[in-house]
Amino acid sequence: MTVIKVETKPFENQKPGTGGLRKQTKVFMEPNYLENFVQASVSVRKNNGDILNSWVVGGDGRYPGKQVLGKIIKILVANGIKKVLVVGRDLIAPTPAISNIIKKYNTDGGFILSASHNPGGINGDFGIKVEMSNGGGAPEVITNAIYDETKVIKEYLSLDISDEDALNLPEVEYLDPIKDYADLMESMFDFDAIRDWFKAGHTFRFNAMNASTGPSAVEIFVNRLGAKREWILNSIPMDDFGGVHPEPNPTYAKDFFDDMMNGMADFGCACDGDGDRNMILGNKFYVIPSDCLAIMTKYHKLVPYYKNGLSGVARSIPTSSSVDRVAKSMGLDVYNTPTGWKFFASLLDAGKINLCGEESFGQGGDYIREKDGIFAILFWLNILARTGKTVEELVREMWNENGRIFYSQYSYEGVDKEKATKLWEDMKVANIDGKKYGNFEISKKEVFDYTDPVNGEVSKAQGVQILTKDNVRIFFRLSGTGTVGATIRLYIEKYENDASKFSLPAREYLKDIYVLVDEILGIKEIFGDIKPSAIN
Ligand code: G1P
Ligand code: ZN
Repeated sequence: MTVIKVETKPFENQKPGTGGLRKQTKVFMEPNYLENFVQASVSVRKNNGDILNSWVVGGDGRYPGKQVLGKIIKILVANGIKKVLVVGRDLIAPTPAISNIIKKYNTDGGFILSASHNPGGINGDFGIKVEMSNGGGAPEVITNAIYDETKVIKEYLSLDISDEDALNLPEVEYLDPIKDYADLMESMFDFDAIRDWFKAGHTFRFNAMNASTGPSAVEIFVNRLGAKREWILNSIPMDDFGGVHPEPNPTYAKDFFDDMMNGMADFGCACDGDGDRNMILGNKFYVIPSDCLAIMTKYHKLVPYYKNGLSGVARSIPTSSSVDRVAKSMGLDVYNTPTGWKFFASLLDAGKINLCGEESFGQGGDYIREKDGIFAILFWLNILARTGKTVEELVREMWNENGRIFYSQYSYEGVDKEKATKLWEDMKVANIDGKKYGNFEISKKEVFDYTDPVNGEVSKAQGVQILTKDNVRIFFRLSGTGTVGATIRLYIEKYENDASKFSLPAREYLKDIYVLVDEILGIKEIFGDIKPSAIN
């Protein structure tokens, strides 16, 4: 076996976004597209002074992960990596389980082959995310350097063997994708209490959306906790997710959501394609992710892993400030970070926080460096089992104590990129302080720049925040994960302390504000009569 140099040409479009390099599957299948990025990632890590001995490769099972594994192994081994740990022969494992393996086995980093909650298959999306030795996504200094490298790359290293033979190289070891993760979860949560909760007759549904969490969910919820097998829905992973858009929210998991709103079970939940996101539903009750993080914070001491308390919590800035209220009432520090889990990783590494979350259906903790759907679900089961309350009771009690933050997120997906970029640039410099829109008056518009409190790194212009005189907070940014055109993300929140209004649906309560936001941005003038594609 000899190391060979393969000549290649740079691609222009390999800038990693919020969750790594994510593109349409067909783009990834262009010759050398993946190879270039893999080589660039390894080169940059080496140039950074990192010694790379061991590397993890995992994925959410989407096409063509399994088919490209041999190619990746060849590049890794040719670059001197001595141990390649592959998570599952079929590369089917949730992102948090892969992150756990990277950290637990003290490896030097890894690749996660996933496009998260985006649809999969030949007509869907594929992606590759570069992980650091802490089991978290590479920070911007690294991803920017990788991007620079992809623009000048001329060759990559490989081996003169077939992709098939690479799968059986002595450097390659295959790990069980389920056991380590299930053991970790069992060590953190009160499994006895949850078992009793199921025994007492409470009902449950978990929707794996034909994606990577099915097998882990069966092991954890059924084998270890005693849930019924038929409560785990869509549990067989498929490489195209059976055509489902594996994003657990009321829009893309609509049937499941409707079933829960019709009282299918006491507790319902779902995970996305790569298992780092989750949706939490009670019997006829929807918990928005921002409130979900607040409830987890409020009851964290019921979870054995957190019984000694938290040092602090964090939310991304577009997430509602619900958790801030709970944390402050408990005397905990709260950090507001830009979008993307990597900003939490630095706070987690420094021990400043132990729990964090984003409005985009993700929560997680300090035991790994990725968000974790099953973790959040077990957290809720733990709280339900230990308090004996229902999901709805838990949330309503919190609103009664702290007031309700009405919150909504909506996106215009796949819009014209040039127009969206111009809108973004215009909004950054727009002077609208004091301007009136109908009943609303803007008190302050600001560009959100972030300085990491641990390493001092500055991330500029992570969004535009607009505050009105009636305590409405609007946040606007462009998505960093889309694969076609641009996606405009809008987030709005308003604090309410009049309990007689708490039962209003958020969409109704906020209806005037949607109009206001579109007007401030001039959506109709710029894009014509477009409709937001997902409202949560
Ligand atoms: C989206 C979410 C963000 C999340 C990311 C990866 O990114 O908004 O919270 O971290 O997916 O799951 P965006 O497309 O908004 O850049
Ligand atoms: Zn995901």
